[in-house]
Amino acid sequence: MRLPLMILGGIRRRMARRNNQMHKYLSILLIGFALAGSGCEIRKAMYDQPKYEPLQKSDFFADGRSSRPLIDGTVARGELRDDELLYTGKENGEEAKRFPFPITKEVLLRGQERYNIYCTPCHDYAGTGRGMVVQRGFKQPTSFHDQRLRDSAPGYYFTVITGGFGQMPSYADQVPVKDRWAIAAYIRALQLSQHATVDDVPESERAQFETAAK
Ligand code: HEC
Repeated sequence: MRLPLMILGGIRRRMARRNNQMHKYLSILLIGFALAGSGCEIRKAMYDQPKYEPLQKSDFFADGRSSRPLIDGTVARGELRDDELLYTGKENGEEAKRFPFPITKEVLLRGQERYNIYCTPCHDYAGTGRGMVVQRGFKQPTSFHDQRLRDSAPGYYFTVITGGFGQMPSYADQVPVKDRWAIAAYIRALQLSQHATVDDVPESERAQFETAAK
């Protein structure tokens, strides 16, 4: 579109010096060429093709909506959530006392990584509830080493991460389901770390502590 217009401008300027009548006719002719050459009309037809914009009104359906609601019971591929323990953290209506999958070293490392990213700003690296955000004035959460929380079921941690708790927001959007369990498992490890004795350390690893102590 730009190039024909520039040429048009040039020709017009030159013609302005000649006779005015001639100028008018030629201009109209040239505008016609410019429009036809640019393909404007073809683009416009495709642009205006019959279709609904999102949430546009429709007279075709009784409820007036062009965006149709999902049919009851529709499940997106890979989104079937029929595992109650895994997705709700509950078993028979109670907070689950077990994890939905085996807790391996990989799961704990994943939980540690996710915990350090999402939870330490408030709960701190050891879980005592004195993270940087708390030091800046946010409400201090109960330490994970508090007896009540040590006695809480894994499903309780899953539920709090999923739904939030008091002033703590939900982390469901940032932390996917399996990661929530991995974090819960890592909090268990943190709790154990603050209440462990030398007897909890495998014989083969104890030498490390003894050399470290010296
Ligand atoms: C923005 C700060 C903040 C972050 C980040 C945060 N929490 Fe919290 N959390 C709190 C506060 C504050 C409370 C106490 C809320 C209250 O009592 O109103 C709390 C409470 C809890 C409780 C319940 C404790 C109880 O007393 O029963 C658990 C469990 C918990 N958080 C786990 C987590 C986990 C796991 C993460 C990371 C996924 C996390 N929180 C991230 C601030 C935070």
